[in-house]
Amino acid sequence: MNKEWEKWTENELEQFQKLFIEWYEKEKRNLPWRYDQDPYRIWISEIMLQQTRVDTVIDYFYRFMEWFPTIKALADAPEEKLLKAWEGLGYYSRVRNIQAAARQIMSEFGGEMPRTPKAISTLKGIGPYTTGAIASIAFGLPEPAIDGNVMRVVSRLFCIEADIAKASSRKIFDEAMRKIIDKQYPGEFNQALMDLGSAICTPTSPSCDQCPIQSFCLAYKKQEQTLFPVKTKKAKPKDVYYVCAALQNKEGAYYFKERHNQKLLANMWTFPMMEVSKEKYEWLKIEWAQAYEPNLFDQEKVAEEETALPFDFKDQVIWQKRHLGEVSHIFSHLKWHVLLFYGRVPSLLSESFQETKITRWLMPDDFDHVTFPKVQVKVNEQLEKNRNNSNPF
Ligand code: ADE
Repeated sequence: MNKEWEKWTENELEQFQKLFIEWYEKEKRNLPWRYDQDPYRIWISEIMLQQTRVDTVIDYFYRFMEWFPTIKALADAPEEKLLKAWEGLGYYSRVRNIQAAARQIMSEFGGEMPRTPKAISTLKGIGPYTTGAIASIAFGLPEPAIDGNVMRVVSRLFCIEADIAKASSRKIFDEAMRKIIDKQYPGEFNQALMDLGSAICTPTSPSCDQCPIQSFCLAYKKQEQTLFPVKTKKAKPKDVYYVCAALQNKEGAYYFKERHNQKLLANMWTFPMMEVSKEKYEWLKIEWAQAYEPNLFDQEKVAEEETALPFDFKDQVIWQKRHLGEVSHIFSHLKWHVLLFYGRVPSLLSESFQETKITRWLMPDDFDHVTFPKVQVKVNEQLEKNRNNSNPF
């Protein structure tokens, strides 16, 4: 393949860096993690920004810094509070990794973020991108920080045809970046790429007229901007089907379970859920859309089997005879379809629903004090919407 960056003269390189850094200084977004070079703030912001838009991150970032102002405060924080700070950002393993890394920093690095890329990359949850971002922005080291935005910009700049969906393409971008990164202002350079990628060099219709480095861009020269980056399609997320039970007692509280020994959403609180086959799910969706009357006719026995809810406790609940609709939620490789049912737990039977370490009853007013995963937040909204306008049963 053509390594176009090798063709740049020293003079061109200097011109390019100068233009780009000047543009950044003039146009850079005013963001709270750009006020100083505190490695702690830069680290947290970069983790938050990995799957979340800048505008959303800002409020989360301020609150996080208020609640956990130092690495030590973060290392010592109770998990509940930590999860609360992250509620709505998703990908909760990130916040658990953050705390694990904070503890590593306390025990192995005397409470201070290590200063070399090699040491930084030993921290939990910190991969090559975050290592490069911290090393360059906080410590001024000429390390690339390559994410999707940066690959888009750089692939256009040099018409790089490597498939960005493949891990093996990374080293090509790494090589190009090491050649072009400004050795004096690497943090500014990396952030200029990020800003350019999010505001100008956008995926479908880049605003090349506003681009400070247009005259260096090979894709622009050939009018091939939209052919880059080259990316093979990701596999579609796999569909998974659940039924979910909103169970309410006489006092108005709802029954929650902690997800125990589960990889996804580990230790988070949700309504009881059971995975079902796609066929069963579709069947339940249709049958329970109508008023479902078991035992109405003997000949419906078979249908009753198929329309029965799969919960162990199903016979101890007075079910509303219609489902409350469905919500869906995508976890990077999975798409959850959740069909929601509502039932009352009569007080006489509620011994089966005692509180334990992994089960509890919560009043709706207390929902604010618990960190729910996003899918449960959606379920709560669906419940509220449909309980308000549904008839009593
Ligand atoms: N996206 C990822 N890191 C960023 C940063 N430091 N500034 C703006 N956007 C970003």
